[in-house]
Amino acid sequence: MYQMGEAEIEAVARVIRSGRLFRYQDGPNGEPAESVQFERELAQKLGSSHALAVTSGTAALICALVGLEVGPGDEVIVPGYTFMATALAPLAVGAVPVLAEVDAGLMLDPADVEKKITPRTKAIIPVHMNGNVANLDALIRVARSRGVKVLEDCCQCVGGSYRGLRVSRHGDAGVFSFNYYKNITAGEGGAVMTGDSRIHQRARMYHDGGSIFRADAKDFTVAAFAGVNYRTDEVRSAIMRVQLQRLDEILSGLRRRCSALRERIGSAVEFSPVHDLDGVCGSYLFLRVGSRVEAQAFVKATAERRINAYLPYDTGRHVYWNWDPLMERRGAHHPKLDPLQSTTQTYLKDMLPRTTEHLERTLFVTIGLDWNEADIERVASGLIECSKAAVGQAELVS
Ligand SMILES: Cc1ncc(COP(=O)(O)O)c(C=O)c1O
Repeated sequence: MYQMGEAEIEAVARVIRSGRLFRYQDGPNGEPAESVQFERELAQKLGSSHALAVTSGTAALICALVGLEVGPGDEVIVPGYTFMATALAPLAVGAVPVLAEVDAGLMLDPADVEKKITPRTKAIIPVHMNGNVANLDALIRVARSRGVKVLEDCCQCVGGSYRGLRVSRHGDAGVFSFNYYKNITAGEGGAVMTGDSRIHQRARMYHDGGSIFRADAKDFTVAAFAGVNYRTDEVRSAIMRVQLQRLDEILSGLRRRCSALRERIGSAVEFSPVHDLDGVCGSYLFLRVGSRVEAQAFVKATAERRINAYLPYDTGRHVYWNWDPLMERRGAHHPKLDPLQSTTQTYLKDMLPRTTEHLERTLFVTIGLDWNEADIERVASGLIECSKAAVGQAELVS
């Protein structure tokens, strides 16, 4: 959580005083609900035609897949490095996740996507991990040439952009998470963004089993189908409206500090490749080293210097070989609902060797929004020292 304060407290108090905590309740004089206003403001800020606020990023992924008409018999390509929810969401709509390699910047690799597309592939999910952006031009080119949909997972990149256009606007739909660890947050939350009214209607229908009775469904052209309940609530939306106003300041603060750090380090340490340096959120600096041994020595040295760095290789549920439900082929709570029971798709611990190598050789440095010049100087010189120490250690071991 980057920033939260009196304005959010006021917003929560306003909702509680109003007594209207349910999103489908307008004010006494017809004032739109907080959730309606949040959706409008989010869509306007990012330049989208439609926003649907939901309870989490996972719910947003599932609703977006429903929106895209993904279902049983379909395959969805996901990267081997992402939070596990990206890979499990296709299962929730009856589809089979297909794992693909990431590139040296830890983003979905277009060349491997191309190899993994089959006649059953319905969608790909590029993930903008840790505030960095995926290689969208190449990914969208591959997807379009094969008639495959693109769903951007922007959960870790709220507000980021690619070639001047906010993430979530490049593919057919995009999703955000507003959980506690994201750029803006209400503790939990999420959103589905799309420029396509059919995708939006289907996602909205699914997110609320009772949607057909709601006023906002009166113009739906999509026939009613059964849904669930991923509805947001007014307290959360009131918080998110304030957080949205803070987004630009949070991003510019992170970007300024991240690029000052890069500049100060210069060529003394290798950076991981980035697909659009101007668009990244600046929440993390990705560094690339020669080997797993060097990465481990590097991160140990940073801890000794009070620099906040970590290894993506060791981030548990973000790494494909730790996705137990896939590795152990339990894709649902009931075998008859499990898409993995009727696919030849295999999931093996060593199935993505390039992903493994890139994870072994990458290190993330967390950027502090409160850093001053002296902090940046301390972290930069510390990283240069750590790098030299790590190279020395790695040479000793080999
Ligand atoms: C890349 C990615 N996708 C999806 C999600 C799921 O979001 P949530 O935790 O809000 O369900 C996350 C959350 O951590 C994420 O990082």
